[in-house]
Amino acid sequence: MKQKLKILGIIGDPVSHSLSPLMHNAALGHYKLPYLYMPFPVKNEELPDFFSSLNRRKIVGLNVTIPHKQAVIPFMDSLSREARLIGAVNTVIMKGKKLIGRNTDGAGFITSLREEARYDVEKKHVILLGAGGAARAIAVALGLSGTREVLLINRTPKKAHDLASELGKKFSQTVFSASSLDDIDISYWALADLLINATSMGMKGIKLWPLPLHKLSKKTIVSDIVYNPLETPLLRRARRLKLKTHPGWGMLLYQGALSFEMWTGRPAPIAVMKQVLLDALQY
Ligand code: ATR
Repeated sequence: MKQKLKILGIIGDPVSHSLSPLMHNAALGHYKLPYLYMPFPVKNEELPDFFSSLNRRKIVGLNVTIPHKQAVIPFMDSLSREARLIGAVNTVIMKGKKLIGRNTDGAGFITSLREEARYDVEKKHVILLGAGGAARAIAVALGLSGTREVLLINRTPKKAHDLASELGKKFSQTVFSASSLDDIDISYWALADLLINATSMGMKGIKLWPLPLHKLSKKTIVSDIVYNPLETPLLRRARRLKLKTHPGWGMLLYQGALSFEMWTGRPAPIAVMKQVLLDALQY
């Protein structure tokens, strides 16, 4: 008997550049599952109509990207702990008629570090650049993973201070603090186990700060969530200093893999998803 086609997809504005359809359709094809994953360009004012049309459109799961990760929250029936802590949803699951909002961004980053760099963040000292949405997802995931200390550095220092003070109250095992680049105690660089760029620096046209990478110890991993270009200016500088690096495509891959597992109940075919992602990013 022919199975009915179910629809998965991603909503955002814009969404045409997203690599998620490619990655998920390859994964669905791997298992020959009766799903199609589609991009849905949705403007902010169109969100109510979009969510009331899910059944008619046969949509059973969604990814959510910029600028809707916070705006979709009122449409959810419940939120997972991560989504609540991060204050944003990147994955929607339909359970019966109920919508569950989850967030796989931070866990995707941590999983990527574990799988691609064989690195565990528990009890580590981390310098995290940024205080926007992506930095927030990673900071929460570091707190949930038992990181010892997270120092946030941001172009707008107040945002880093506010985030550190909020998360400090939520995680008792992790010390969250904030500093501007000029005020940071230089000894902290030698102490750091992991440096993460979660800002837009390194994307085309956005210059990297003059970071004192030479002060990092040789055990430090330098991680960038920017994935285009594949080797960002930060990762190139780190590689030249013989530091270990962790590239940005990993977070994209594993946040998708975790969403896929939530929708389908199948283990994500990582090798298949990684291949199509890297092929697309190399051109
Ligand atoms: P995302 O969802 O990708 O995290 P975001 O919430 O807009 O996007 O956050 C962007 C981050 O990149 C912020 O930390 C931002 O710093 P501000 O809080 O000061 O805006 C940082 N950022 C953006 N452009 C930057 C630039 N030219 N130099 C340094 N940091 C920059």
